[in-house]
Amino acid sequence: MSDVWGRVDEYIVETLVDEDAALSVALSANAAAGLRPIDVSAAQGKFLHLLVRMSGARRVLEVGTLGAYSTIWMAKALPDGGKVVTLEYDPHHARVARQNIERAGLSSVIEVRVGAAAETLPILAAESQEPFDFVFIDADKPNNTTYLDWAIRLGRPGTVIVLDNVVRNGQLVDAASTDPNVKGSRGAFELIAASPRLSATALQTVGAKGYDGFAVMILD
Ligand code: SAH
Ligand code: DHB
Ligand code: MG
Repeated sequence: MSDVWGRVDEYIVETLVDEDAALSVALSANAAAGLRPIDVSAAQGKFLHLLVRMSGARRVLEVGTLGAYSTIWMAKALPDGGKVVTLEYDPHHARVARQNIERAGLSSVIEVRVGAAAETLPILAAESQEPFDFVFIDADKPNNTTYLDWAIRLGRPGTVIVLDNVVRNGQLVDAASTDPNVKGSRGAFELIAASPRLSATALQTVGAKGYDGFAVMILD
């Protein structure tokens, strides 16, 4: 990481980002439990929080929980009665996430479902709950297109969808890449471009988590 990116991110977080104790304690608990530090950064978590507030979302779907750091940021943006459903493959991650959620006092707001998202998404859809207003996709990148398809099916006109880690140190523009994660980014871009219901852009990000980016879209 460029040193200046890190220092600017620190300044942003110090001055503007009110990361509360539940979030910093979650990061410590993740480290103690051996989870890799691949959560969104604090500045990015606050960005997700703001997007949830700006969109007026009440129901949030997340694919890829890890220790629930991003989950807690989003849950804290919800009005009373709001809900986050977050999907996680790894039972150990889910266990750590549930402890972090409990400590944050958010067990009644956040539901963690364990299993491969490609299997838990159809189950969720079959329950025919209300549509999701906001979807954050941040799991296994080769399945990005599967998750985008489900986000469209589980959303409604106006649903906001954010897809993490699309720029991948700039490898996004390598059309010849054989890296499954890069192919996952490019496949997602192709699906978005071909979907008349999705209006999108992507933003490159630098900072505490290196050089990457989000795709942000709205469902029409
Ligand atoms: N959103 C988190 C980070 C998620 S890291 C945050 O910013 O705090 C990606 C997570 O996706 C990991 O916990 C990984 O176990 C999970 N994952 C990987 N493959 C998955 C799958 N097929 N279904 C659901 N989750 C998956
Ligand atoms: C990885 C996954 C992420 O979601 C992320 O934000 C950074 C890294 C990874 O699997 O390495
Ligand atoms: Mg990510």
